[in-house]
Amino acid sequence: MSDAIPVTLETLQDMKQRGEKIASLTVYDAGFTRALEAAGVELFIIGDSLGMVLLGYDSTVPVTMDDMVYHAASVARVGRTAWRVVDLPYRSYSSPQLALANATRLVEQAGAHMVKLEGGTAMAGIVETLAARDIPVCGHVGLLPQSVTDYGGYRVQGRDADSAAAILADARALEAAGAGLLVLECIPATLAGEITAAVGIPTIGIGAGPACDGQVLVLYDMLGITQGRLPRFVKDFVAGAGSIPAALRAYVGAVKTGAYPAPEHGY
Ligand code: KIV
Repeated sequence: MSDAIPVTLETLQDMKQRGEKIASLTVYDAGFTRALEAAGVELFIIGDSLGMVLLGYDSTVPVTMDDMVYHAASVARVGRTAWRVVDLPYRSYSSPQLALANATRLVEQAGAHMVKLEGGTAMAGIVETLAARDIPVCGHVGLLPQSVTDYGGYRVQGRDADSAAAILADARALEAAGAGLLVLECIPATLAGEITAAVGIPTIGIGAGPACDGQVLVLYDMLGITQGRLPRFVKDFVAGAGSIPAALRAYVGAVKTGAYPAPEHGY
């Protein structure tokens, strides 16, 4: 893909139709925005994971709208080609009115092309409200980091038939409500494949196996910076690449060819 042409939602939709994998990473600042675009990353998620990797919190729960606006605006200031999805943080979309006010702020003050919120069927009304105001929405199903205390930890979701059916129903409900993209986090690869085939919108997987239309990783995880025990889907692309630009190019190449994620990265 030429790096002079801005990626749109239509571009991502066309990639799904042609079976070209979408390369996505999280990003939170201007320097990495330039490096990721130079490497050919097509989809940015300015994720509330910034609370953990940049701000030192134990979870994404303390992240505020001001945090998201500050980081997303630094990405938008220099971003030229990638489609920018910005997370609505915890409790910033607990009513349709609040969601609309905060999503509008992310678009107008922080250069978001699309906002992302966590949750399935229960979020359909909020997604409808935003979509009716022409604010593109990305859904997020499977493991929901903003609800991690409810699960008692970061655990794979959808392992049994009932919870798998519920996640598939969530994905369908979000599409029907007007979502234009879906993040599938930490679910079995077979379930992610079923969802990807069942919905017409692109799916972006993280710990969801190779059948998704695209892949995303938390930038600091794939750069090998994150300390401690990492989930099995994380791969350190700097090891063996020699430099950060080479690691970013290796990641994009591995997503495009389907070499990442390999079977050992899935559930
Ligand atoms: O916050 C984040 O980094 C995310 C990723 C899991 C996509 O939502």
